Amino acid sequence: MFKHKHLLGIEPLNKEEIIQILDQAQQFKDIINRPVKKVPTLRDFTVANLFFENSTRTKLSFELAQKRLSADVLNFSSSNSSVKKGETLLDTVNNILAMKVDMVVIRHSSPGVPIFLSKHIDAHIVNAGDGTHEHPTQALLDAFSIREKYNEFKGLNVAIIGDILHSRVALSNIFCLKKLGANVRLCGPPTLIPKYVEELGVTVSHNIEETLAWCDVANVLRIQMERADDAYFPSTSEYAQFYGVNMERLNSLNKNITILHPGPINRGVEITTDVADSSHSVILDQVENGVAVRMAVTYLLFSQRMPRG
Ligand code: CP
Repeated sequence: MFKHKHLLGIEPLNKEEIIQILDQAQQFKDIINRPVKKVPTLRDFTVANLFFENSTRTKLSFELAQKRLSADVLNFSSSNSSVKKGETLLDTVNNILAMKVDMVVIRHSSPGVPIFLSKHIDAHIVNAGDGTHEHPTQALLDAFSIREKYNEFKGLNVAIIGDILHSRVALSNIFCLKKLGANVRLCGPPTLIPKYVEELGVTVSHNIEETLAWCDVANVLRIQMERADDAYFPSTSEYAQFYGVNMERLNSLNKNITILHPGPINRGVEITTDVADSSHSVILDQVENGVAVRMAVTYLLFSQRMPRG
């Protein structure tokens, strides 16, 4: 039994609960690789996906996960909704819940929105990314993809490279990887690394070569181009020169490392095309694993409401 009603972040989970999600996801990955990919498990449940921010991977894989579990699915995008006429978040959500919705998956630009909703509505809430706070299912699918290659986390060196300051993926990954026993190092320009982040039990480097030589796995984060105007670094070409993950840097190592990227990729900025599309990269495996992980999260949150046996 999974004891949480919501998935608001990785921070509230313990190691055993994270492993439970990953193990459940493995079962679903086996199922969705069979000719018959759909199971009837959630056919009496309804889920609404509320996206107040753009998404490709998270939105589509939640929808596919819910459909593979036979749930009824509603999809909402704020850009073509009555939010544009001034309707509040809580009114919007309460109107959707009045249609007998059991679970809300929400992405929003404001940190804390999923926590706020969990205090005001009765449905299960899943955080699909809240501002610069957390993106828990991304961290879980990253962990799942790492476990597929390395089996365990204890002693594994994982670097998170790039725009840590604006990244909800970074924070959820730090919580997740530390709880699982990995060593975590952050690498990027000083302007893109938050102050006092070492208090989370990670190390910090501003040297990409040293970081790549240290790590087994590099999770390369998107430079958030929409914020590049704020002069966090002089130019994208200078960023690529000092912090970009390219084949020359990988070839200079005397070992193979595994490259993750949550997407969307800025090819030629934080990662070159030859690396993103190389055998080092598990970027499309991450996307595939996202469906199984989101099936697992949805199933486990509903498991409290299912008859036993
Ligand atoms: N990784 C991720 O969250 O991608 P999307 O913004 O496309 O959902």
